[in-house]
Amino acid sequence: MKILTIMGGPRKGYGTIVMEKLEYELKLLQEVEFEYLYLKDVNLESCRGCLNCFFVGEEKCPFAKDDRNEITDKINEVDGVIFMAPAYAMHVPALMKNFFDRLSYIFHRPCFFGKIAIGICNQGISGAKYITSYFNLVADSWGFNFVNRLELLTVPYGGAEKKMTTKIQKTCKIFLKALNGQRYQKPSLGGVLAFRIRKLLYAKYWIDENNADYKYWFEQGWLDDDKKYYYDVKIGVRKRIIAGLICALVKPKFKHLFADDPELVIKRYMKLESLKF
Ligand SMILES: Cc1cc2nc3c(=O)[nH]c(=O)nc-3n(C[C@H](O)[C@H](O)[C@H](O)COP(=O)(O)O)c2cc1C
Repeated sequence: MKILTIMGGPRKGYGTIVMEKLEYELKLLQEVEFEYLYLKDVNLESCRGCLNCFFVGEEKCPFAKDDRNEITDKINEVDGVIFMAPAYAMHVPALMKNFFDRLSYIFHRPCFFGKIAIGICNQGISGAKYITSYFNLVADSWGFNFVNRLELLTVPYGGAEKKMTTKIQKTCKIFLKALNGQRYQKPSLGGVLAFRIRKLLYAKYWIDENNADYKYWFEQGWLDDDKKYYYDVKIGVRKRIIAGLICALVKPKFKHLFADDPELVIKRYMKLESLKF
């Protein structure tokens, strides 16, 4: 079992102390390979917002040759990922935000199905809840099965270690249970809906063979008539009916939005020509 911890803080501080404790507790329960990826030590240029990754392909990112692909390769090799960062100004530190920005194309082209993720944030006073819920959102959108959020107050007041140990042990159990269990979970209504709406978009309104999203969705077979979700899984009738109804409501909007040639719209969008006041 391989686990990768993506460390989003700019120093080896309390976050490292906490993660080393979690690694220790995890290894008491089960033999696992545990690797740390410190974003502070990798070469990941800041996203410049060119939109190439979204529409042309991630290989057309002006910084495609920095460490971005090594990071995604690492994620592809492991069974579980831990997103870990301290609270900075009520959010993740800039390093981690840039990591999410640089990998933003994965929101459009999710690829980490069958992998388990958890999110951990250490804070001084407050903000950690927003951050772990952000980790949850990103991980879900990228295809992970996100199973646990852990917020820790890493201030050395009396008894802090004991409280943290209990929480860390609980997280280890949840993480391992998910790693050893059924990795491909039944999706939520929101998950089914996100799939169905995007399928509708690429199957009917945004058919552009030069578009990276369209190509990916097509190649994955997600645009096939019988595809109900990214992977084969039973989806309840209620979720299917609600998703179907919402898609029917969205159709006229798509018809209106994509009345122009989609390729032309994207070209204008990428050149900042879409808004002319
Ligand atoms: C620039 C900066 C911003 C911070 N913002 C917050 C914050 O919004 N909320 C909070 O609870 N703690 C905040 N803190 C405190 C850190 O989250 C806290 O000290 C944490 O334990 C640091 O983790 P580290 O030792 O792994 O770097 C901030 C610290 C720094 C340096």
